[in-house]
Parts: sequence; structure tokens; C-alpha cells
Amino acid sequence: MLPIYFAPLQGYTDDVYRRTHHDLVGGVAAYYTPFVRMEAGSIRSKDMRDINPENNVRTPVIPQIIFNSRKEFEYLVNRVEALGYKQMDLNMGCPFPLQAKHGRGVGILANEQVMNDIIEGIKAHSNIKFSVKMRLGWDDNTHALNVVRKLNSVEIEHVTIHPRTGEQQYKGCVDLDSFAALYQVCENPIIYNGDLRTADDIHKIEELFPKISGIMIGRGLLGRPSLAKEYNENREINPLPLLIDIHDALMQEYSRILKGDTQMLNKMHTFWDFSQDLMDRKTYKKIVKSGNMKNYLAAVNAIRIAK
Ligand SMILES: Cc1cc2nc3c(=O)[nH]c(=O)nc-3n(C[C@H](O)[C@H](O)[C@H](O)COP(=O)(O)O)c2cc1C
Repeated sequence: MLPIYFAPLQGYTDDVYRRTHHDLVGGVAAYYTPFVRMEAGSIRSKDMRDINPENNVRTPVIPQIIFNSRKEFEYLVNRVEALGYKQMDLNMGCPFPLQAKHGRGVGILANEQVMNDIIEGIKAHSNIKFSVKMRLGWDDNTHALNVVRKLNSVEIEHVTIHPRTGEQQYKGCVDLDSFAALYQVCENPIIYNGDLRTADDIHKIEELFPKISGIMIGRGLLGRPSLAKEYNENREINPLPLLIDIHDALMQEYSRILKGDTQMLNKMHTFWDFSQDLMDRKTYKKIVKSGNMKNYLAAVNAIRIAK
């Protein structure tokens, strides 16, 4: 059985979600936090709250940082380490133009000098276990191949590959041939990430790449929170009751943090973004189009009764 890791998804897998998923479902070896970045010389308080160990007491969490220079890398590593973390994930895959255009995320892969500096940074912090999460490059896999070769010179926990280019964003298919090329070259443990929705999808990747060290899943787990558990326990679980349990726990938690129905509705609408397959179109539309809390709760109740 391979360990299943929960991928970071900005706007979805915050501390509240991770805690709730871990307490109510589990089956996940570790949860990677959405990236923490340097902004106006510091870290946003929202991001600090998300990685604050007090908010992650029971959850196995690995903070992720994003940077475009050794200077940003050092600042973030030191701040995160000061919170007590000994493990960190380095984002080299974010395709959001706001980050990539400034040389962060996937934008760092093409920058040979900065990559060399970061490798030196990894060596300098020998007390920290680093992992890397990356894409193929901006428009082909050449840059990822170079970077994976460079990373062979340091011992890291693992390299997670999402085999899409930055240009693709989340469109089109994952490129398994490019993943296979990186799999051949990578001497560090390698993890596959991308488009896995069912336990069978995970088994297929395991068969194709028998030497991988783990699987990372994002949208598949958000839509079907039982996916890791189903794979671990080799049995199918009806995902709807778990989805409802998570939903109800999140409503309770977010009602303490968010102000007013509009904020709550916005947040709760996104909860269903990746679960459309589990219900008919009419039910889904009723949930996400509900303009007030009363209609929203009525729409969710329809699933609760059907589950
Ligand atoms: C809305 C959204 C936010 C994301 N935020 C992050 C992030 O903060 N850090 C990161 O490394 N990847 C981020 N990703 C990428 C996911 O971690 C993952 O690599 C991608 O969704 C592919 O995996 P999946 O098909 O299992 O979801 C994000 C993806 C989406 C759709």
C-alpha cells in the first residue's frame, strides 16, 4: 500500500478542512498546506494562522512555501522552522500567472541560477527535511528534467510531480510519458499527483510505476473524501454520508470564523465544487445557486435524506 498524501489547494484545504477531514475520515498520511509566501516583507497573518501548530495539533501537516530567490527561501524557511516544523515542501509547480510570472512556482524551474541557489539552501538547512512539488515546466518537460537531475545531488524526502505544464493550468490530460521520463531520471523518492478519482485510478498508477513512493491527491479527495480510506482498506465506501458529516462539521467551525450568511454561503458553495459526480445535476445546481441560507440548507437536506 502506498501512502496517500492530501495535496494543497489554496481556498479549499485550510486548517479547518484538514482537521475535519483527519478527524472524521482519515486514511491520509500527511496534509500539505497551501503555499505560504512572502508579502510586503512578511507572511500574511491568514497564512500564519493556517500553519500555526496550535491549529494543527492532531493533524499530520507539512507546510509548503513558495519563493523566487534564496532570500525569500531563507526568510520563509526560518519563519516556518521557528514554529517548530522540521519538514517543508517547496512549491515549484504553481501555474497562477501572479506567481509564475514573478519567478515563483512553475516559474522557478527555468531559472538555472536561482535553482542552484536553492539547492545550496537545501544543503545549508540539513536539519530540515525538504520535499519538492513540481510541474513539467512552463510549456514542456525540459525544465523539470533539468531540475530533477539537479535535485539528485541532494537527499530530499521526495519529489512530487504533477505531469502538466504551467501553460495547461488544469486543462487537457496529464502527460504520463513525461512523468515516465522523470521517473527514470529521479534518484530521490518520487510521488505521482494528478487526476486520480477512484481507487482503481490509483492502482493503475501503481502498476505503471511500481517504484513510486506515494500518491498525492487533491480534487479527487475533496470530491470523494473517503478515497484514501477506500484504497487503504480495499473496499468501497459510500462517500455521501461522509461528505455530509464533513459538511456539517465545517458549517459549525466556519460559523465561528466567518461573518454573516454571505461569507458562509460563498465558502460552503465551494465545498461542493468537486462532488458533482455524486449527485444529479438538478440537486447540485440547487445547492450552488441557492441565494440564501434557508434555500441552501434545504438543498443540502435533500442529499441528507437521500444518502
Ligand atoms: C484551486 C487550486 C488551488 C491549488 N493550490 C495549490 C497550492 O497552494 N500549492 C500547490 O502545490 N498546489 C496547489 N494546487 C495544485 C494541487 O495541489 C494539485 O497538484 C492539482 O490539483 C492536481 O492534483 P489533483 O488532480 O489530484 O487535484 C492547487 C490546485 C487548485 C485547483
